[in-house]
Amino acid sequence: MAHERIVILGGYGNTGRAVARLLLEHSPVDLVVAGRDRARAIRLAEELNQAFGAERVLGAEADASRPESLRPVLDGASIVVAASSTSAHAVVVGRAALDAGADYMDPQYSTRKLELLRSLKPSIEAAGRCFVTDAGFHPGLPAVLVRYAAGRLEAIRRARVASVIQVNWKELEFSPATLEEMAGEFADYQSLHYRDGRWRSMGWLESFAPIWVQFGHGFGRRYTMPMFLEEMRPLPSMFPSLVETGFFVGGFNPVVDFVLMPVGMGLMKLVPRRGAAMFGRLLEWGLREFTRPPYGTLLQLEAEGMRDGKPATLGVEVAHADGYLLTAAPMVACLLQMLDGSARRPGLHLQALLAEPARLLKDIQAMGVEVLVRDGA
Ligand SMILES: NC(=O)c1ccc[n+]([C@@H]2O[C@H](COP(=O)([O-])OP(=O)(O)OC[C@H]3O[C@@H](n4cnc5c(N)ncnc54)[C@H](OP(=O)(O)O)[C@@H]3O)[C@@H](O)[C@H]2O)c1
Repeated sequence: MAHERIVILGGYGNTGRAVARLLLEHSPVDLVVAGRDRARAIRLAEELNQAFGAERVLGAEADASRPESLRPVLDGASIVVAASSTSAHAVVVGRAALDAGADYMDPQYSTRKLELLRSLKPSIEAAGRCFVTDAGFHPGLPAVLVRYAAGRLEAIRRARVASVIQVNWKELEFSPATLEEMAGEFADYQSLHYRDGRWRSMGWLESFAPIWVQFGHGFGRRYTMPMFLEEMRPLPSMFPSLVETGFFVGGFNPVVDFVLMPVGMGLMKLVPRRGAAMFGRLLEWGLREFTRPPYGTLLQLEAEGMRDGKPATLGVEVAHADGYLLTAAPMVACLLQMLDGSARRPGLHLQALLAEPARLLKDIQAMGVEVLVRDGA
């Protein structure tokens, strides 16, 4: 019997390449890696076929903004992974997936994208397809960690997730579309977090007093800011004992955080059309020039609740030196649950609320991610 075929748009990008490698290592699927540059797609397919000693990968040209270019590439696919910086084209890709009878996943962080995909919800449900959005590391993992802790503690009361992303940006190459999309994401930024039993934003004055977190893995004490992720929204109603939860994103570096971000946000307000592209270039420069070692990526949960009727704590650290492996591993772990049918539920889902948490953590560990769980009194 032929294996299922997964098409990865942005297949030769940083996230796409890592997803392709992990899928080849951990599942029997065949792949199509696609992007607007046909030669790069074919080159990567050849590299992967050689590395894995089998003809499992094809390279193809596809543009997420052009349905006619997606049609032949998606033909026969069972899942489309949009690992491309194409959140603005979510409807085009989503419709193409539905027309091809394929399920869908994307790791993009964008409020607008969620709105676009929600407009497809009736068609997704009518077709019985499983669409998974906000996949990856963040978004993608914070609510998985809270759900995991809620399963290990009785009456979970507090659950804070915080991140460090400190990568050697000089070693990375991005599509200009990715930098522009990244800059646009800052315009979507909301500081909503759940405290004292209600969702609240940081006041103007509070934004000058960042929240300090003690991180493991040698990163030490660092400033963070609350960052709303859609996957956190239903947690208080899922776990009514929760009085405090939220995701707290660590800074990139002081120059980017305190100089370039305000300048970039100003640019996007002043010249909305060209602002995102200008901010994207500034961001790339600031990340490359001012980010210093130690390099690594870490997501850390600190939770409190009860165990055997007594107050108890639970800590989880999820880390990898390569931020793109840490992005791809949860995506592939969720894809494995879709492929075996356990998470292939019709509808539009957020990865962090669809995937089974304990299995996902075990699977990403098998993919080389460090997962450390600390039970405390
Ligand atoms: N959830 C998470 O934890 C997480 C973490 C990291 C990244 N991300 C998201 O993942 C996405 C990819 O990021 P990345 O860092 O991997 O970017 P990247 O390395 O720049 O790769 C982006 C890829 O998308 C392709 N692409 C761009 N426009 C396209 C189009 N119109 N049609 C088809 N392909 C297109 C690019 O190739 P061509 O330009 O040659 O077409 C490239 O292969 C972004 O949306 C980013 O926000 C999420």
